[in-house]
Amino acid sequence: MVIPVRLGPRSYTIVVEPGALATVGERLRALGTGSRVALVSDPSIRSLYGKTVAESLERSGFAVTGLDVPEGEAAKTLAVAERCWSALLAAGFDRTSTVVALGGGAVGDVAGFVAGTYMRGVSFVQVPTTVLAQVDASIGGKTAINHPEAKNLIGVFHQPRLVLVDPLTARTLPEREFRSGLAEIVKHGIVLDADYFARLERDALPLLARDPSVLERVIAGSCRLKADVVERDEREAELRMVLNYGHTIGHALEAVTHYARFTHGEADSLGIAAEARLARRLGLASAETVARQERLLQALGLPVRLPPLEADAVLAALSHDKKARDGRVPFVLAPEIGTFRIVEDVTADDIRAVLAELSD
Ligand SMILES: NC(=O)c1ccc[n+]([C@@H]2O[C@H](COP(=O)([O-])OP(=O)(O)OC[C@H]3O[C@@H](n4cnc5c(N)ncnc54)[C@H](O)[C@@H]3O)[C@@H](O)[C@H]2O)c1
Ligand SMILES: [Zn+2]
Repeated sequence: MVIPVRLGPRSYTIVVEPGALATVGERLRALGTGSRVALVSDPSIRSLYGKTVAESLERSGFAVTGLDVPEGEAAKTLAVAERCWSALLAAGFDRTSTVVALGGGAVGDVAGFVAGTYMRGVSFVQVPTTVLAQVDASIGGKTAINHPEAKNLIGVFHQPRLVLVDPLTARTLPEREFRSGLAEIVKHGIVLDADYFARLERDALPLLARDPSVLERVIAGSCRLKADVVERDEREAELRMVLNYGHTIGHALEAVTHYARFTHGEADSLGIAAEARLARRLGLASAETVARQERLLQALGLPVRLPPLEADAVLAALSHDKKARDGRVPFVLAPEIGTFRIVEDVTADDIRAVLAELSD
């Protein structure tokens, strides 16, 4: 399936196709870029998929320089970015060269940052290999490295020229990693598309079993939903905030547990459960709307009950949210499945109450 992302001169396509990894060379060739390509990956991903991608690029006449970055968040540092810039320079990369990110969101974020800054920006291709990266991080042009004191603080918007998703790569993900990515998929359904959500409810079992055709359909559907939002709000002015559903409380939970206890998707799942209840508490959503969200998350093996946590610490973390204005954080809430509303007047007491409900 080919999904267009229409952004004027920065338009590109997302290709979701089993076996897509082996087509990267011909697709990049069609974009008319120069002959040098940096293939950025981490050692585990490279050992799984690096050869297929490098061979495809070489078959199409590209000269490939492999760049290894550390696994996970450790890739998103200034030191790693600097090593990449130096390697590009040493290999003679110029403004016609291309950076290809092969990996999860961490590889994509640092590789995108390097591509967006080297010589003020060179072509960038995303080949995401985690579910989270396939349906979320690889689409939309946000790139980042971390500051020692704040995640994703340093970055640029730099749209890829192409996003190539091979849904079969999701089959080698560790179980916990795989399920975590499903949280973003559920989020897209809840706030953007009731039919998509209902289909997820029906397909939960084969999805969890990583049935290839279900994976392809679900991932492509989720890419389309994210692409629609990005098209309408490239720079995250207003609408793109909808994608923060579950993430406001989710991020706070990650922060208070020092990013060690939950995966990002698990924190999102808990955040969705909490924010669903917030909508109910504010009289916006029905009990059934809340229950459907929790049921689907649970069916996909995601957590919806909190361990005991200090509510004060969660509230303090929320006040550091980038979106906070005058100490209050705007929340994206879902009055019904498939719809959203931005609510500014959520009180600390409301948040305490839903946290208490979830840890009963
Ligand atoms: N730019 C954005 O818009 C955006 C959006 C959401 C998240 N992010 C970022 O994405 C990052 C998280 O990404 P992630 O969840 O993909 O995790 P990740 O990139 O940290 O990868 C997780 C692990 O999975 C391994 N892995 C990757 N693909 C694999 C495969 N197919 N088979 C087996 N193992 C595989 C990796 O080696 C790594 O150890 C965070 O840094 C987050 O800030 C960015
Ligand atoms: Zn998320």
